[in-house]
This record gives sequence, structure tokens and C-alpha cells, in this order.
Amino acid sequence: MSASDGGEAGLPGGAAQKWSLLADDWALTWDGVAAQVYAAIADEARLGPGVRLLDVGCGAGGLLAAAQADGVTAAGIDPAPKMVDLARERLPDCDIRLGGLPDLLWAEEEFDLVVSVNALLFAPDVYEALAALMRVCKTDGQVAIALWADDVGNDLDVLEQAAAAAGGPAFGDGGPLRRDGGLAELCREAGLEDVRSRLVPTTWSAAGIDDLLRAVIPGEQSGPSSSASRLPEVHRAVVDAAQPMLAEGKYTLRNSLYLCTGHVRPNT
Ligand SMILES: C[S@@+](CC[C@H](N)C(=O)[O-])C[C@H]1O[C@@H](n2cnc3c(N)ncnc32)[C@H](O)[C@@H]1O
Repeated sequence: MSASDGGEAGLPGGAAQKWSLLADDWALTWDGVAAQVYAAIADEARLGPGVRLLDVGCGAGGLLAAAQADGVTAAGIDPAPKMVDLARERLPDCDIRLGGLPDLLWAEEEFDLVVSVNALLFAPDVYEALAALMRVCKTDGQVAIALWADDVGNDLDVLEQAAAAAGGPAFGDGGPLRRDGGLAELCREAGLEDVRSRLVPTTWSAAGIDDLLRAVIPGEQSGPSSSASRLPEVHRAVVDAAQPMLAEGKYTLRNSLYLCTGHVRPNT
């Protein structure tokens, strides 16, 4: 039985279903960005065979695939059943569980490295979420968290704002954790040590307009849309705003993430 069939229990409700509706579009678009973040994490942490990594909010498994290719023993967890199904299909040898922050389904100190990319802000409480990430990390192991950066050039934000201004979905302000220093401060407050923060630039290309719209307004075809009657206007607004990103038939979007790493030390 797949995770989408409801064969596994104990899930958070609405948010998980929302991410399930977006899963196919996510897998076709942004999923590759997590592999670029993995490359930056690999610069900060000693990775390779023998290392046990957990990816929390693993989505369709982009980072897990990059970790496995590196010889790392990777495990993942996500509350969206469809995301879990996609990740399991892609990585049948990987331990991928249905669940989410703050209830990580592993015992204390199971992993050398616990990562989370663009998922922390979906937890009900970020302090509780960080405590959960640290709980499953070994003493002297590392936690690595990445979030889209709001205060440096971020093409996705530009396009999302254009969509919202035309009556499309509103994505809201990412808050202080998506601005310089915010995530690092949270990591220190939570008790991580040797906290390091860096900006990770990423690029992603849409092969054409359909691909671009799928990335900016994911789930539009499958999910309930509050603005379905205005979609053509929203589409036009996104395509217009993306003109500066268009070259040789491809839209190339540049987005940066803040990546913070820190160690779990005894008694933290
Ligand atoms: C923006 S996607 C990022 C997916 C993946 N990390 C990546 O970068 O490709 C956010 C993911 O967070 C998951 N998520 C939502 N609420 C969560 C929670 N409470 N704990 C962990 N993950 C959560 C969603 O299901 C979704 O897969």
C-alpha cells in the first residue's frame, strides 16, 4: 500500500494534503534545487560512505538522491503522502517515512547529519522543530537548515509577487528567518554550536511557459484554486514579469538560500 492510500497513520492534516496536491509539479520543477543545496552542505560537513543523513521535509527526494549518489546512507521524512510515494519510487532502498516536524519517527542520536531544505517554516513551531532535529542528531553531529533568502535577488519572489498582484495565490512574507542573520540567530538560540551561515546561489531553468507556470503556481491543475476565473490574467502577469529571465527560449531563475550549519554538543 502506498502512503497516498492512507496506509500509514499519525499525519498532520490539511498542510500535508496541500503538499500532496503540489507533489507532481514540485517533482517536475524545484526538486533539482535540493541537490544544489546538498553540494553546499557537502562543503561544510564530512560526507561519504558510513555517514547517516536524515532529510526532514524531503519532498520528492531530490536531496536524498544526491546523498545516495555520494555513498551516504540517507533517510527521509515528509508529511505529504504523495511526496513520500514519489521519493520511495525513486529511491526504493531508502528509509522514507510519512510524518513531519516536530514528531520525527526515529530514536535519539540516530544520525550524523540532519538536514532540512525549505521545510522548517511549515512546522507548527520553529523552536520545537529545531529541538526535534537536534534530538535525532548524534552528539558532535551536525544539523543543516536551508531556507529561501528574501533579501537578496530572488527571481521566484518576483514572479510570485506578480502572480499575487494579478489576483493569483498570495505567498506571504517569509519573515525574519528568510532574511540575513535570522536563521543563524534561531540556530544559536536553540543551542546549536559553531553556527555558520552562508548564501547558496541556485539556478533553475524552465523549458518554456508551461514549465514556468508550473513552477510559480504549482498544483494549479489538480488543486482547488481560489482564483481560477482569473488564471489567464495571472499567467500573463507571470510571463511578463519573467521576460528579463528569458534567453534562448528558456527562463532561467536565480534564487539564493540561507544555509546554516551547527553542531550538537554534549548537553545542548
Ligand atoms: C518547499 S517543499 C521542499 C521539499 C524538499 N525539501 C526540497 O527542497 O525539494 C516543502 C516540503 O515540506 C514538507 N512539510 C510540510 N510541513 C512539514 C512539517 N511539519 N515537517 C516536515 N516537513 C513538512 C512538505 O510536505 C514539502 O514536501
